[in-house]
Order: sequence, then C-alpha cells, then structure tokens
Amino acid sequence: MNLEGIDTGSVPHHVAVVMDGNGRWAQRRGLKRTEGHAAGEEALFDTVEGALELGIRWLTVYAFSTENWKRPADEVRFLMRFNESLLVRRSHELNDMGVRIRFAGRRNWRVPRRLIRRQDESIALTAHNRKLTLTIAFNYGGRAEIIDAVKGLVAEGVQPEKVTEKALRRHFYDPEMPDVDLMVRTSGEYRISNFLLWEIAYSELVFTDTLWPDFRREHLADAIREFQARERRFGGINGGDGD
Ligand code: FPP
Repeated sequence: MNLEGIDTGSVPHHVAVVMDGNGRWAQRRGLKRTEGHAAGEEALFDTVEGALELGIRWLTVYAFSTENWKRPADEVRFLMRFNESLLVRRSHELNDMGVRIRFAGRRNWRVPRRLIRRQDESIALTAHNRKLTLTIAFNYGGRAEIIDAVKGLVAEGVQPEKVTEKALRRHFYDPEMPDVDLMVRTSGEYRISNFLLWEIAYSELVFTDTLWPDFRREHLADAIREFQARERRFGGINGGDGD
C-alpha cells in the first residue's frame, strides 16, 4: 500500500465503515443484488489488511441494520447465511492476522440462533487478539443501541442524577468500543443511516463514490489522508482560526 502523505503516527484510532453500494454494483453488471454482497467480502478483507498495515486499532463495519429486515425475504436470508459462512470460512484467518472479532447489535431479536452461536464462537476464538478489533455491526441500529442502554439503566434502578454519559455507555453493545474518529461511507450516499449515532458525535465524515465491492485498502488510505488534512477541534478553538 502506498503510505505516501500519511502520518502513521496519527492515524485514526477507530474507523467505521458503511459498506454501501453492493446492490448497484451487481445491477450494473446484470447480476443479482446478492452477488454484490458476496463481492463485498473481498473488499472487507482487503480493508481489514489495510487497517492492520496502517495501525488502525478499531474497525467497525455495518453488515446488517435493524432496518434491513424490510428487504425482500430472500435477500435477508442470504445475508444471514452469508454472514454465517463468512465466519465459518474466515475466522481462523482473521485470528492468525491478530484480529479480535466482536459484534454490535440486538442479539435477542430475530437473528437465527445458529448465527448467534457462530458469532459467539468467533468472539471466543479471537478474544486474545489485540492488533485490531473488527466489530461487525449486525442487527444494529444507533437508536436501538441508545434505547437498549436506557432500558439497562432503568432496569438497574439508576437515579436521575446518576444518568451520565459514562453510565449510559456502560450499557452499550460493547462498552469498550471507543468513539469513532473517522466514518467512511461508500457509493456516493451522504447519510448516516442510523449507524453509531452516539459514537460519531465528533467523527470526521468521509464520503466516496466508490461502490463497496470495488473498495480496497488504497481507498482506505485516501480516506486517512483526507482525515489527516482536516483539523479536529472537538468544540474548542485549539490551533484553529477561532471561527
Ligand atoms: C449495503 O449495500 C450493504 C449491505 C446491506 C450489506 C453489507 C454486507 C456485506 C458487504 C457483506 C460482507 C460482510 C459481512 C460481515 C457479512 P446495498 O445493498 O444497500 O447496496 P445499494 O445501495 O446499491 O442497493
């Protein structure tokens, strides 16, 4: 990968990706939408390798949203089976690469038990890894995550004055997941689509026209260059022009 122009000492700690455009990629080739998802696998693995090369520590990808249940039944079925087969086929490879696999999303709602079991197996297999945490957002919705966390707080019987950002975060799907520094969305759509709403509060957003199946580590490197060219002030005026 060409690292020219990248300051490897200040790459974003946590990158989140909306892997969009699989359906359009397939349709343009006269293929079924599901073949676009299948082609997304190579994009995902190339991106994981790129993240490892760049020294990114957290990578979170949107694989299935709480809204994706509205898609045709055969596409939903395909995505469930495809996720399962991907875990069976490639968890060991990810493990060998030093990747820790985690999931974010509603586990106890609609997802087939068999898939949950596979997910748990790949979490256990890779739990000791520290190079990169790959979080697969599956049956995930940003609002659902906040609602589920509020339910957790209420169930705990927490008093109103004890409701803090820190207390809420303890009930998120992965309390250890850090805030997102950079969010990338492919396929020329400029939306967040209910992804990591809380965690992107201060993220830089990078949009690219590349459709997900065509995305490679070089595109990730481009997004990092764009990220590094921006100035992050987190609401302050540090080093800025003051505007
Ligand atoms: C969005 O494209 C993509 C999805 C809803 C699924 C993403 C899944 C993968 C990339 C498969 C590989 C990864 C895992 C972990 C299973 P779209 O269908 O909305 O495309 P469109 O906007 O062109 O219709």
